[in-house]
Amino acid sequence: MSERGPSGADEIIFDMSPKKKSEYSVPKLKDFSAVALEKAAKDFLSALATESKAAGSEAEWKIFRDRWMARANGLLTQINESWLKAAPKDAKRAAGQCVNELKAKVEEIVGATSERILNQAHSKGRPVGRAKTRDSASDPHGGESPGDRIDITLPGIRRPIGAEHPVIRTSREMVAIFQRLGYSVAEGPVVETDYYNFESLNFPPNHPARDTQDTLFIAGQESKPLRDRLLLRTHTSPVQIRTMQKMKPPVRVVCPGKVHRNDALDATHSPIFHQIEGLAVDTNITFSDLKGTLDHAMKAMFGSSVKTRFYPSFFPFTEPSADVQISCIFCDGKGVRDGAPCRNCKASGWIELLGCGMVDPNVYGFVDYDASKVSGFAFGMGVERIAILKYGVDDIQLFFQGDVRFLEQFG
Ligand code: PHE
Repeated sequence: MSERGPSGADEIIFDMSPKKKSEYSVPKLKDFSAVALEKAAKDFLSALATESKAAGSEAEWKIFRDRWMARANGLLTQINESWLKAAPKDAKRAAGQCVNELKAKVEEIVGATSERILNQAHSKGRPVGRAKTRDSASDPHGGESPGDRIDITLPGIRRPIGAEHPVIRTSREMVAIFQRLGYSVAEGPVVETDYYNFESLNFPPNHPARDTQDTLFIAGQESKPLRDRLLLRTHTSPVQIRTMQKMKPPVRVVCPGKVHRNDALDATHSPIFHQIEGLAVDTNITFSDLKGTLDHAMKAMFGSSVKTRFYPSFFPFTEPSADVQISCIFCDGKGVRDGAPCRNCKASGWIELLGCGMVDPNVYGFVDYDASKVSGFAFGMGVERIAILKYGVDDIQLFFQGDVRFLEQFG
């Protein structure tokens, strides 16, 4: 279809016709002296370099690789046979060394050639590369218009450096606050069993949280006993259990991770979100330790003027339980901002941020801790909620849509 212009530039690029020069082949050696081996190695390497340069596409690279490295009759196998195996006893050592060095060189060059070809393929998508492949039939200048030339004095194309996702950044900031208090970090699987997500956390058999309304179950699990059935964990609390199974008190861990719930998405709900769990178990841990710890964490995250308030709540695995609210960071807890009711805290002056409580003694029963000797607290917080407050984001969906215009603001 496309006629090539007379300038020749396109012909060179597109001419794939094999211009077979005499191809290198491995010579049989009669002389195994150091000088002869060195000469043979030199020829071998120069052929390797020439053929590497000639390979210009992935298909050609494969042929190149097989010719040099194929186990059956590749050139490496051939030098192994005719240079090493055929060498007389007193030359074996030197021949072995030579063959080994050549083998390493072939591997290096084959790898580098592949990389070069991949990089070329990559940059073809860019304007400079495209200019070369243009159909010159439509070009009176035979494909050599000034715009086709590569101006090597132009600055290069900078690859944008990625930025940490705001959710991950927030999560790491919070984890770091607890690490400074001596907590370590534990992680657990996102696909959990019913046992770890519910049963061992003291959820009664027909608790509504197990409902298909809230939980995304893995299909095809019906033949298993309930406790072994797989689901997407609805919170990071199963990592409490996994941690206590692995270690004896004293325990101080934070567990960041992804969780899922069967929620319809809107500005404040997403079926995927992230939590950070905390667990401290020791002797004589009290509710005031819990209050002091969380108060410190909230001040470290949002600023020292932030106040916390603990509000009675319920979770099956903590008793007593509380929801923690922080004083509204938008209206300084006043409920009024610029003379109007604060929208962020619905004029209440408080924003609810996390759930917590003293570990229910029943939970210790599942992990073989002696409930009469130890006590502890646990908490769980939503990372997106914190990020929304910290960065003033008005829609949780923005975290999951991958829109660069949103994400690059955190770069
Ligand atoms: N797992 C609870 C939730 O997701 C939060 C929580 C964690 C509450 C630990 C108390 C203790 O809602």
